[in-house]
This record gives sequence, C-alpha cells and structure tokens, in this order.
Amino acid sequence: MAEKYYLKTYGCQMNELDGSQMGRLLARQGYAPTDDPEEASVILINTCSIREKASQKVYSDVGRFRSLKLKNPDLVLGVTGCQAQAEGVRLQKRFPYLDLVLGPDHTGRLPELVERVRREGGQHLAAVKLEKREEYRFLNLLPDEEEDAHKAFVTIMKGCDNFCSFCIVPFVRGREVCRDADEIVAEVRELSERGTQEVTLLGQNVNSYGVGRHARDPNALSFPRLLRRLAEETGIRRIRFTTSHPKDLSDELIEEFRVNAKLASHFHLPVQSGSNAVLERMYRGYTRDEYAAKARRLREARPDIALGTDLIVGFCGETEEEFQASMDLLEELRYDSVYSFVYSERPKTTAGLYFKDDVPEAVKHERLQRLQALQNRIGWEKNRSYEGKDLEVLVEGPSRSGDTYAGRSSQNHVVHFEGTDADVGKIVKVRVTHAGPNSLIGAKHD
Ligand code: SAH
Ligand code: SF4
Ligand code: F3S
Repeated sequence: MAEKYYLKTYGCQMNELDGSQMGRLLARQGYAPTDDPEEASVILINTCSIREKASQKVYSDVGRFRSLKLKNPDLVLGVTGCQAQAEGVRLQKRFPYLDLVLGPDHTGRLPELVERVRREGGQHLAAVKLEKREEYRFLNLLPDEEEDAHKAFVTIMKGCDNFCSFCIVPFVRGREVCRDADEIVAEVRELSERGTQEVTLLGQNVNSYGVGRHARDPNALSFPRLLRRLAEETGIRRIRFTTSHPKDLSDELIEEFRVNAKLASHFHLPVQSGSNAVLERMYRGYTRDEYAAKARRLREARPDIALGTDLIVGFCGETEEEFQASMDLLEELRYDSVYSFVYSERPKTTAGLYFKDDVPEAVKHERLQRLQALQNRIGWEKNRSYEGKDLEVLVEGPSRSGDTYAGRSSQNHVVHFEGTDADVGKIVKVRVTHAGPNSLIGAKHD
C-alpha cells in the first residue's frame, strides 16, 4: 500500500496553491493523501503569519503531532509556509523533533528534503528568501489528470514591495518577482486545452505585474497587456485575479474591463480603511477619494461588476471618528463582499516596531461587530438586487446540502440550482429566484 501524507494548509490562496503543489510533488514520489494524521508517513503544516492568531496555530499543531513522532520515529514532520519563513531555526530549537522547516520560496525542494530526512534523519532547514529573478523559479506543476480542474490557480508573481505598515507579507514572502509572461500564457493555454474553464491569476500584488522594479526586465509587459494576451492567445473562458493594490490600479486596467469579455465581473480591491489619516499611517499610498473614484470608474467600465474589499479595524490610534469613516465608505460604495479583521500587531513591521497598538481589544471587537452587521445588511441587499436576473454560473458540483448543484457566478457569488452531473465543469445560465444572505438560488435555463 502506498505511503501517505497529511497536509494542513492555513492562510491565503497563495498558500493553498503552494499546498496543492506540495501535494502534487509528493504524489509524484508515490505518496497518497490522507485526512488522518495517524496513518501518515509525512505530516506537513503549511502555515500563515498574517495575524497573531494564525501564527500561533503552528505551535499547537506541532505539539499535537509530537506523540505520533514518538510512536513512529520514521514519521517526517515538517512546517512549511510563511511561519516557517518567519521563524526558521527558532522553530527547530523550540521543537527538537521537528524534521523539516521549509519557507515558501523552497516548495520545489520538498521531495529532495523529505528523502534526506528519511535517509539521514536530523533537522533540515530551507528558509532563505529568494528575491532575485535569476535565483527564483516558479513551479510549473499542472493539476494531475484525476484532479477536478475546471478551475485552476496560476501564479504570476510572488512577494510584495509595498511594506504597508501593518503587514508581515513582505518579510515572509520577500520582494516582488514576476513570472515570465510566455510561461504564464503557455500554462493557461495548456490548462484550457485540458478543459479548465476559469483561471485565477495569483500574487500579493498582481496589478503591479510588469511595472516598477520589473520595468527593467525586457520581457515584462503590463498587467492589462498580460490579461489581453491570455484572452487572445488561449481558449480560457474566464479570468480572475487576486490581489490588487488600489494605488496600482491603472486607467489601462480599468479600460480592459470595458473590452476584455473574458475578465470575470468581479474585482477584489482591499481598501483597509475609509479614513485618510489611517490610510496614511498604514502607508497605503492613496486617499479615500482616489480609491472611491477608481471604484466608480470600474463600475462605469463594467456596470455589472461586483466589488469586494478587505478592512482592518482598530489600527494603531484609530479614533471612533476614523472608524466611522470606514463605516461611511461601506455605505457609499456598497460592496458585494467584505473581509474584515481586527488589527493584530506583527513583528518586523513598521507599526509593530514604532506605533502603539493602543485601541483596547474590547473596542476593536465591538467595532468589528458593528462593521460586520452593517455589511451583512448591505451584502444581503446587494444579493436581492440579483433576483430576476440571469447569471453565468461555472458549476462546481453538488451543493453541500446534497439536493442541488452549486457554482460561482462571474461576480463570484455562490449560486444553487437544480442541475445534473452533466452540468459540472460547465458554464450555465441561471435565473436568480431567491437571494439569501450568503448565496443565491436560481433555475437553469437556456
Ligand atoms: N496583498 C493583499 C493582502 C494580503 S493579506 C493586499 O495588499 O491587499 C490579506 C488581508 O489581511 C489584508 O488585506 C488585510 O486586510 C489583512 N491584514 C494584513 N495584515 C494584518 C494585520 N497585521 N492585522 C489584521 N489584518 C491584517
Ligand atoms: Fe501586505 Fe500591503 Fe503587500 Fe498587501 S500590499 S501584502 S497589505 S504589504
Ligand atoms: Fe498568510 Fe502568508 Fe498568505 S502570511 S495570508 S499565508 S502570504
């Protein structure tokens, strides 16, 4: 019987993709996945450091697997992802039975290191950040044939050069490196030839693709040009991307939404705060009005576009008035979806080092609740505005409840409808009959 691996992933879509790449690498070595750590010969915890709570998970998880390691000394226990990068050797000191600490820039070395642990034992560490284009290689592992691949993720850049004052990402994922455009086009073409309908282009700051530091690279082209190439040179039906930074949202990109029909009608544009003073302390590089003007122009270029955002409440020094500015922005822009977080101080960041985390926890949580209550109301109202409308839904499979099928609209809403297995992996037209707070229900028609 094949040996098995157990992999647990936390964090964002980039970590998810790294996780599936690690799974594919291990599968090629003959390991099969399992949900039961007890029967695994390799256990990997793919970690996130974005907030304190996420970063703590690694300690409880590694501790939890200690007894398995004692029972079975041949078990390979590894930590990967952003917390592996952030702590490196400190993790090894704290957990002497930990075999492997692998930062996100070294995913491709996983097979070799797992084999070394099995052969030689001991602790192995690969956590040097690879920040130069010449030294970093993007993994090019397409989903295995048996994977359900009607939608796929494709990395187009890694790292982040923005250094927002609250954010640990540049310290754990390193500086921006863009992937070669021809390589991206070739990968998307191959995916579409294998039946993939939708790709999501991934990076911490996708719309800075090809600009800034990368402008010196002769092969670099702008993000909107890349989108155009993908639309024209591949058979892919739908293109999404995440995440974008408002300051890098160019006129050219807005215009691309007018003409490029393959771009999904969805834009996730993290604003972080509605207060100019807070935005300045966050080093975000735009004002509330600049942001709102771009959002309006996106809606003008693509009237059915759904907007999403991220917001932080309780950032250093945030007054009630500054918080209210975020509430007002939600009323003004009426997003379809909002991810909101309580500010969490992170090591190495400017805010962590120099600003005072002075909003009391109780106030932070109370603000989060008020913000989420407001957005729940707005989100449901927005959902109801789809009633009677036709949406194009990429069908993912049976709903969790079992009696309907579910997929995502171009606007990224979950839509349930009565379907058949034959619909899975196809884009079908659904007329919305009912809107719930978190999803839509509709009927398929031609
Ligand atoms: N690259 C993306 C964000 C990645 S992190 C961007 O620039 O938008 C995802 C979200 O986590 C951020 O948008 C932010 O809202 C939140 N976040 C980041 N650091 C945080 C911190 N220290 N405390 C709370 N939330 C944080
Ligand atoms: Fe973090 Fe800012 Fe970079 Fe986003 S743009 S990853 S919030 S530093
Ligand atoms: Fe977390 Fe790393 Fe993503 S810190 S949010 S897994 S880039």
